[in-house]
Amino acid sequence: MKKILKWTGIVILFIISGLSLTVMGRQHLKYDAPYPNIKASIDTATIAKGRHIVLGPGHCVDCHSTIKNVDSLLQLGQEPLLSGGYKFDLPFGTFYTRNLTPDKETGIGSLTDGEIARVLRYSVKKNGESVLPFMPFQNMSDEDLTAVISYLRSLKPIENKVPDHQYNVLGRIIKAFLIKPMNPTEPLQTAVKADTTARYGKHLVMAVANCNECHTKRNEIGAYIGKPLAGGTVFEEEGKPTLITPNLTPHPSGRIYGWNQETFIQRFRLGKLIPYSHMPWESYGRMTDDELKAIYNYLKTLEPVDTYEKK
Ligand code: HEC
Ligand code: HEC
Repeated sequence: MKKILKWTGIVILFIISGLSLTVMGRQHLKYDAPYPNIKASIDTATIAKGRHIVLGPGHCVDCHSTIKNVDSLLQLGQEPLLSGGYKFDLPFGTFYTRNLTPDKETGIGSLTDGEIARVLRYSVKKNGESVLPFMPFQNMSDEDLTAVISYLRSLKPIENKVPDHQYNVLGRIIKAFLIKPMNPTEPLQTAVKADTTARYGKHLVMAVANCNECHTKRNEIGAYIGKPLAGGTVFEEEGKPTLITPNLTPHPSGRIYGWNQETFIQRFRLGKLIPYSHMPWESYGRMTDDELKAIYNYLKTLEPVDTYEKK
């Protein structure tokens, strides 16, 4: 009996050390991806469009600023610092957003336009590693990326060294086996005509504002499993009531079924009503009436899903 136990112990030890070696060996996997042909511009209209995306629908500011009153600054139409350092305490470790100002040492000053465009479109960083899956902007058009990068380049450089991420054991295992670059899921587009059509609304919802990130159900590793925009994502945080994203499809059981276009726009003008809501209401509130009309029109074209029938 003792002998068997001893051998089992040895075998388990071998398996564990084998596994940890594999996990360690897979911490810095490299990927290949093309550099999109994107060049920052100093054209004022392009920079203004980029500013609108970063502070508005693209809500980059929501994660890349640590300014305490970011919501009120956005409401006032001001520009919160994009110097990064916002901290995410997750079950896999502690992660920090990067400094998006053009500082050479601590910001994006050391990245080329192509490198910034590649990390946003193909999730591959300068050093070839996969970026963490916080930013589903893979389907942005060339025009969107050009505008965003032009705006970031126009900012005043701010020196802010953001700490390195800290992975725990679970985080290392996830990094070794599950973190892979996210790629575009739609054919690449040079530009999408900005108007109030459902076509443009879809581009905003799926590629720029990423409403589906929270309003479509996903599994533990972030893959979409629910019907598009039918809601059901659960947000649980200690000490706060649980929030579940509402169903945005045109079904009588959906949240916005009885809302007309006016109501929809007005709701966005009201901003955050539930203080602990995860939805970046203040950034979205900077969207124009036309952008909100386009989104509304797109939501109307979705397959109606019964809130209470889906799993
Ligand atoms: C939900 C939070 C979130 C949002 C929204 C967000 N980011 Fe990030 N961003 C992060 C995190 C976290 C990292 C660090 C990821 C890593 O190191 O793998 C990061 C890293 C980056 C990087 C550095 C990548 C590299 O090469 O190391 C760039 C550039 C960037 N973000 C740009 C943007 C832009 C532009 C937007 C808006 C269009 C945006 N981010 C919106 C969380 C976010
Ligand atoms: C980061 C997660 C997240 C993103 C991204 C997000 N939402 Fe939400 N949304 C929520 C949560 C959580 C709620 C419920 C709490 C609340 O009402 O603020 C909600 C509520 C709503 C409501 C109901 C508001 C009410 O008063 O009944 C609407 C409408 C809505 N979202 C539309 C959108 C649209 C359109 C987008 C994209 C432009 C979007 N959401 C993006 C998380 C998100």
